[in-house]
Amino acid sequence: MTSSSSISIQNMQHPLLLSIFFLFFFLGFASADYLQNSDFESPPKNLTGNSSVPFVLLNENNTIPGWTFQGTVQYVTAGRIMALPDNGHAIQLGQDAKINQTFQANGDYMEYILTFTLAPGGQNCSANANITVSGPDNQGIFSFKQNYGKQAWQSYGLYLGLSGQDETVNLLFESQSVESDDNSTCWPVIDSLLVKAVENLVQGKDNLLLNGGFEFGPDFLSNSTEGILLDSASSPVQSPLSQWAVVGTIKYIDSEHFFVPHGNAAVEIVSGVSAGIHTEVTLAKGSAYNLEFILGDANNACEGDFIVEVRAGSVAQNFTIRSNGTGSAEKSSIKFEVDPNATTPISFSSFTTSQTKDGIFCGPVVDDVVLLSLSSNSLRIVINPNILISLLLLIVILW
Ligand SMILES: *[C@@H]1O[C@H](CO)[C@@H](O)[C@H](O)[C@H]1NC(C)=O
Ligand SMILES: *[C@@H]1O[C@H](CO)[C@@H](O)[C@H](O)[C@H]1NC(C)=O
Ligand SMILES: *[C@@H]1O[C@H](CO)[C@@H](O)[C@H](O)[C@H]1NC(C)=O
Ligand SMILES: *[C@@H]1O[C@H](CO)[C@@H](O)[C@H](O)[C@H]1NC(C)=O
Ligand SMILES: *[C@@H]1O[C@H](CO)[C@@H](O)[C@H](O)[C@H]1NC(C)=O
Ligand SMILES: *[C@@H]1O[C@H](CO)[C@@H](O)[C@H](O)[C@H]1NC(C)=O
Ligand SMILES: *[C@@H]1O[C@H](CO)[C@@H](O)[C@H](O)[C@H]1NC(C)=O
Ligand SMILES: *[C@@H]1O[C@H](CO)[C@@H](O)[C@H](O)[C@H]1NC(C)=O
Ligand SMILES: *[C@@H]1O[C@H](CO)[C@@H](O)[C@H](O)[C@H]1NC(C)=O
Ligand SMILES: *[C@@H]1O[C@H](CO)[C@@H](O)[C@H](O)[C@H]1NC(C)=O
Ligand SMILES: *[C@@H]1O[C@H](CO)[C@@H](O)[C@H](O)[C@H]1NC(C)=O
Repeated sequence: MTSSSSISIQNMQHPLLLSIFFLFFFLGFASADYLQNSDFESPPKNLTGNSSVPFVLLNENNTIPGWTFQGTVQYVTAGRIMALPDNGHAIQLGQDAKINQTFQANGDYMEYILTFTLAPGGQNCSANANITVSGPDNQGIFSFKQNYGKQAWQSYGLYLGLSGQDETVNLLFESQSVESDDNSTCWPVIDSLLVKAVENLVQGKDNLLLNGGFEFGPDFLSNSTEGILLDSASSPVQSPLSQWAVVGTIKYIDSEHFFVPHGNAAVEIVSGVSAGIHTEVTLAKGSAYNLEFILGDANNACEGDFIVEVRAGSVAQNFTIRSNGTGSAEKSSIKFEVDPNATTPISFSSFTTSQTKDGIFCGPVVDDVVLLSLSSNSLRIVINPNILISLLLLIVILW
């Protein structure tokens, strides 16, 4: 339920900075909820009829707390025919439907990333109607894809945009009309929204890549075991995975429900051949660099050999991971040279399509990508999170 402001902790060696960081860290958590009624558990006002039926059509006298809507919108109640995260309620967008909410940005130039859940609005759908989700600087078209998880719903991530202090951010969901007048087209149902703000990431001495550990991405739903699907994002700037462009579909996975080699989050490449992630760095010093990374599996019964092609500058190499599907991590690295001030591409692409025995698409996990110069004597400083938290507590006590 809580979304949080995330702050880069690199480059903060001074105790004063650390304690200021500590304060903001918790303020960030305190002012976390950007959206009102983000799971539609506050029912529409003036609801008439039997609210225990799964779909109730809203009319001009109804209002949904926190939201503005128009068109054919139904209030959905979970039950035998509708599965929703944490059961409860959701909203279905039918013909010409729109629903939107504006929220107040906090902090200067924060990037807003959305997590939302999509379910097909019915059974036996021959097609799922598309939904357009828009923020201030970006929009995405989504339709329900069941084959990436075990539930009848799936969560997605979307970069919404950058917003300055005191600006308002408008989040809009719009159903896309279907061409044929087919009754077996299911309209999208939306639920469980989270908005997260990410501050500008700052390059640290311990890694020339930003978000190499994939810790900055959409917020996870606290009770979901499904991870978050990230669809193609052609620019690393307008991506729900900060600083990384996405090709195909990847799953953003959390350490609470998956095997994650490092930190709280990692990336699983799920949509098969040539899906993956890529970024770019401009390195001022033309010399030799080392790219270190972890490849593995997410402990989600994804068995087989995964081939991952890793590219750094003009060097490309394939790595094969043999997965039992029980969670594994292997550290590897490649060395490469760059021209000064040239843009250096870095990418991880899958060359295999894998499925679990249940038919769920799955694949290799990538985590902890670290880029360092071989010529400078920069050392990687590994900060154990437990030590960091103890240190922060100590500083606050001494303050
Ligand atoms: C509401 O619907 C349920 C099942 O559809 C039914 O059992 C119940 O009697 C209805 N309640 C009212 C007040 O109509
Ligand atoms: C309920 O509907 C009536 C009649 O249209 C309207 O006057 C009233 O404002 C509505 N109440 C709410 C909470 O929307
Ligand atoms: C909305 O409220 C008005 C005034 O109470 C009523 O006349 C009208 O029938 C209501 N509309 C619907 C669709 O229930
Ligand atoms: C979104 O909601 C606001 C009210 O908060 C409304 O004024 C605005 O017209 C809506 N925007 C869109 C695109 O629907
Ligand atoms: C969906 O299909 C199943 C099996 O074909 C059938 O039993 C069920 O009634 C159908 N549901 C709807 C809503 O048509
Ligand atoms: C949904 O949008 C995609 C393009 O983004 C399109 O190929 C597909 O046909 C659309 N589906 C429907 C049901 O309209
Ligand atoms: C859709 O379903 C309704 C009600 O079951 C029926 O009256 C209508 O003819 C159907 N439309 C199409 C295009 O099948
Ligand atoms: C998560 O699940 C627990 C137990 O089922 C429930 O009490 C809690 O409200 C759920 N959390 C959310 C955010 O819905
Ligand atoms: C990696 O393997 C794929 C598929 O076998 C192949 O197409 C590709 O050229 C290989 N890449 C490298 C760098 O060897
Ligand atoms: C895979 O399973 C076998 C047999 O259970 C075990 O010996 C092996 O260590 C496992 N390998 C990995 C990478 O987990
Ligand atoms: C790289 O760019 C920096 C800053 O723009 C400049 O000072 C430096 O001379 C450039 N190096 C080369 C080799 O072009």
